[in-house]
Amino acid sequence: MTQRIAFVTGAMGGLGTAICQAFAKDGHKVVAAYHPQFDNKDEWLKEMEAAGFKDFVCVAGDVADIESCKAMVAEAEAKAGPVDILVNNAGITRDKMFAKMEKDQWDAVISTNLTSLFNVTKQVSAKMAERGFGRIINISSVNGVKGQAGQANYSAAKAGVIGFTKALAQELATKGVTVNAVAPGYVATKMVMAIREDVLKSIVDTIPMKRLAKPEEMGALCSYLASDLAGYMTGATLNINGGLYLQ
Ligand code: CAA
Ligand code: NAP
Repeated sequence: MTQRIAFVTGAMGGLGTAICQAFAKDGHKVVAAYHPQFDNKDEWLKEMEAAGFKDFVCVAGDVADIESCKAMVAEAEAKAGPVDILVNNAGITRDKMFAKMEKDQWDAVISTNLTSLFNVTKQVSAKMAERGFGRIINISSVNGVKGQAGQANYSAAKAGVIGFTKALAQELATKGVTVNAVAPGYVATKMVMAIREDVLKSIVDTIPMKRLAKPEEMGALCSYLASDLAGYMTGATLNINGGLYLQ
């Protein structure tokens, strides 16, 4: 397999870690992008080293801030080289029923989960097109596909991710650059563990497989989408949700 440079945002979170590990196992050079305020970077790196992943390059940046993204990607290019694979993975929740949702909760989720795709992708997509190869993978959600009560902000952002994916896929289709979305169901990470226990139990009861997804199951799908052999798949939204929502 050709070694590529893979840039993963939200790299030190649940899905991000699994995606970084999957790419490293594929032989890619991985740039782990993390939030500047994340203070467990050294601990995370130690854990990765203990698990046999010794070569992650780390860069800090706020995906909601375009100037920060410019600097973060420039640093990644200087340390690792031009980005071939981008995973727009960083994201947050600010769940509230719409009647109680405040404007700052709307704005935070839209800027972190949707505007971030503009901020980060803008730094790499034209250069991918010039080089004739690129893989852009955007992490959406089952709740962007089906909608979820208590998540008007999040569902809107994650549905936006799918629209962005479809539009950019068409623009880059002749350039060797594919753009796809992954729409996970409920995955066992800190984001899901923040749901109230009784609410989470009632959600798991509605999943046909009766379990949460494992982060590695998302890593494996990203590994495929990043591969050379996935070159004919673009503009797709890949649902990976234990049967929770079937289109
Ligand atoms: N559909 C319709 N109405 C609902 C509902 C649902 N699914 N769930 C609750 N309601 C109603 C309740 O019946 C209640 O109505 P009344 O006031 O008339 O009694 C009202 O909404 C308030 O419900 P809660 O008591 O649950 O309100 P709360 O303020 O305590 O909690 C909440 C609100 C935080 C949004 C909570 O309901 C919740 O956490 N829901 C789950 C949201 C969810 O799935 N988040 C996913 C997070 S992980 C993630 O996002 C990853 C991913 O991509 C999958
Ligand atoms: P997570 O463990 O909370 O990881 C999210 C990561 O994003 C964290 O490392 C977080 O850093 C980072 N981040 C948040 N805001 C950022 C910002 N402004 N700039 C840079 N980084 C930022 O959650 P996860 O479950 O792995 O979620 C990863 C992605 O998958 C998200 O887009 C999420 O919406 C999506 N998703 C998750 C599930 C699920 O069930 N878990 C399902 C569908 C989709 P800090 O910790 O420092 O804030």
